[in-house]
Amino acid sequence: MDFKIGVIKGDGIGPEIVTEAMKVLDKTAVRYGHKIHYTQLLLGGASIDVHGVPLTDDTVEKAKECDAVLMGSIGGDAKTSPWYQLEPAKRPEAGLLRIRKELNLFANLRPAVLYDELKGACPLKEEITEGGFDMMIMRELTGGLYFGERRTVEENGVLTAYDSLTYNENEIRRIAKRGFDIAMKRRKKVTSVDKANVLDSSRLWRKIVEEAAAEYPEVTLEHMLVDNCAMQLVKDPKQFDVILTENMFGDILSDEASMVTGSIGMLASASLNETSFGLYEPSGGSAPDIAGRGIANPIATILSAAMMLRFSLNLDKEASAVEQAVAKVLADGYRTIDIMSEGKKQVGTSRMGDLIAGCI
Ligand code: IPM
Ligand code: MG
Repeated sequence: MDFKIGVIKGDGIGPEIVTEAMKVLDKTAVRYGHKIHYTQLLLGGASIDVHGVPLTDDTVEKAKECDAVLMGSIGGDAKTSPWYQLEPAKRPEAGLLRIRKELNLFANLRPAVLYDELKGACPLKEEITEGGFDMMIMRELTGGLYFGERRTVEENGVLTAYDSLTYNENEIRRIAKRGFDIAMKRRKKVTSVDKANVLDSSRLWRKIVEEAAAEYPEVTLEHMLVDNCAMQLVKDPKQFDVILTENMFGDILSDEASMVTGSIGMLASASLNETSFGLYEPSGGSAPDIAGRGIANPIATILSAAMMLRFSLNLDKEASAVEQAVAKVLADGYRTIDIMSEGKKQVGTSRMGDLIAGCI
C-alpha cells in the first residue's frame, strides 16, 4: 500500500533520531511491499529560523493531508538559544501546543516499560522492580491548564498571573473512553488520577470517568490522588496498568514514569485524535547538549514509528517486525551510550539504526 507520512525532524537531536527511524521504515516498506511518501514539515525552532514563527498554517494543512506524522523533538536550550528571546507565544513549545490543538490530538499515550535487558539502568531497588513493570500513561492533551485563558496583569500595583484550568464533560468522556479501550487490550485496569480533594475540575473528572466505566464492566477502575500517584510510581510501579489523567498531571507523571524505567531513550509515544491519524514522537526531549554528536539513542523514535505502523497505518505485522528487530539488537548486546553497561558493545546513532534496519 501507499502511505503519506509527515516528518517533523525538529530541533536538537531530532534530525538525527528521525533519520534512523526513516531508515527503519524504509526497510520495512521494502520488505513488506509498501510505499512511503514523506512530506517534510517544519515545527519549533526549525520553523522559527525559516518563517519567524514556530508553526505556519501551511504546515498545519500539510500535516492534515498525511496519514500520520512522525516527529523528533523540538526546543533548545532556554538559556542560550535566541528562540527564547521571543515572546512566549512565538517560542518553539507554542508551535507544539498549537499543532496538538489544530489536529485535535487529545489522547496522548506514553508507555513506560522496564526492559528486561536494561534492568540495570533502573534507579529503583531490585525488590521493587522484580518481575518488571509495564504501564501506559494516557494523558489528556488538548485541554486543562495548557489551553485555558492566561494573562498577567497589574492589580493595585501588584503583578498577578492567571492560568485557568477548565474541562468540560465531553473532553473528559472521550479521553476516558480511550483509556478504557486501551485497558481492554491490556490488563484491564485503569487508575484515574486527579486532585478531587481540592479541584472542581477533578471532581467532574472523577464523576465522568465513573460514568464511562459503566460501559466497561470488565475493567477495574480505581481513583488515585495525584500526589499519592507520584509516590506510588516509585514505591510500587507494578500496580499500574493504564494511568488516565489530565494534561498537566500527565505531563509530570509521564516524566516520572519514564525516569523510573531508567531508559527514557527507549520510550515511544503517540498522540491521537478521533480518527486513525496520529503524531508519533519519542518521550524524551531535544537534548541540545548532545545534538549533532551522533550519540543520541534513536530507539524511542524507531519504536514510535512502530506505534505509527500499528495505530495509524493498521500494519500490525510490520509494527511487530520493528519491535522484534529492536529486541534482537538489544539481545545481541548493542547499546547507545545512555543505556550502556559493562560488557556490552557501544554504538552511535546511525549504527544503531543500521543494525535495527538490518534485522527487518
Ligand atoms: C511534553 C513536553 C511539552 C508539554 C512541552 C515541550 C510544551 O514537556 O510533551 O511532555 O509540556 O506537553
Ligand atoms: Mg513533558
